[in-house]
Amino acid sequence: MIKKCLFPAAGYGTRFLPATKAMPKEMLPIVNKPLIQYGVEEALQAGLKQIAVVTGRNKRAIEDHFDINYEMEHQINGTDKEQYLTGVRSLISQCTFSYTRQIQMKGLGHAILTGRTLIGDEAFAVVLADDLCINTEGDGVLEQMIKLYKQFRCSIVAIQEVPLEDTAKYGVISGEMIRDDVYRVHSMVEKPKPEDAPSNLAIIGRYILTPDIFDLIEQTEPGKGGEIQITDALMKQAQDGCVIAYKFKGQRFDCGSVEGYIDATNFCYENLYKQGE
Ligand code: G1P
Repeated sequence: MIKKCLFPAAGYGTRFLPATKAMPKEMLPIVNKPLIQYGVEEALQAGLKQIAVVTGRNKRAIEDHFDINYEMEHQINGTDKEQYLTGVRSLISQCTFSYTRQIQMKGLGHAILTGRTLIGDEAFAVVLADDLCINTEGDGVLEQMIKLYKQFRCSIVAIQEVPLEDTAKYGVISGEMIRDDVYRVHSMVEKPKPEDAPSNLAIIGRYILTPDIFDLIEQTEPGKGGEIQITDALMKQAQDGCVIAYKFKGQRFDCGSVEGYIDATNFCYENLYKQGE
């Protein structure tokens, strides 16, 4: 079964400058927890304990976060402040973390290909940490997707309906509905203008990928924005009928935008933090 979860985390986070000038965008806090910690919690909840991170320059804080800080932890040892570390300590004790660096920013497809050395020849999940996904009603989004993978055994993308005027922010799919929340993907386009979009079903930052994706990415020419797009590589799998799109249950916040970040903060404060999670 799937054991590994890949976090592409080399991007600059320019939409959050100056906050991200010296700090990785994945470390921006939602209330009191960095974004990437929510992603790792979601992965662990889905049973994925091998965390693989594609990093870049200026990303060391991510590695330090999933490690011991001897001096500070010694300082608060035995005080009631220690409780604030319970969550992250639990992740550190249950997961392994491995890292590789993306030297040049050549797109999400290229970032995922960079992670090949950590993944090897097995199916894996991908989480884009700035898409924060919360399901207060039940299984997390990755866990929902893992269940679907057991049934279909092919690549899966999470989707949600977006207003048509927003299609240029996303990969967009079209396909045949095979269940009220599941589509077999026929085509997918990266960031189409509304008039070119095949639907308003947008891909959000959760994927399950079968390992043949790596060779397909290698064969993928630069697409939108001159970057190697995962959407284009997935399109090749879709042509063989091997991509499923899943309308997940839960809320998704685009924490790469200031508005989404504020919404996520308010939501998590009310629904998680105040409830003591
Ligand atoms: C990436 C993908 C896009 C997807 C989006 C989800 O775009 O390329 O297909 O819809 O993530 O957040 P980015 O937001 O990194 O430009």
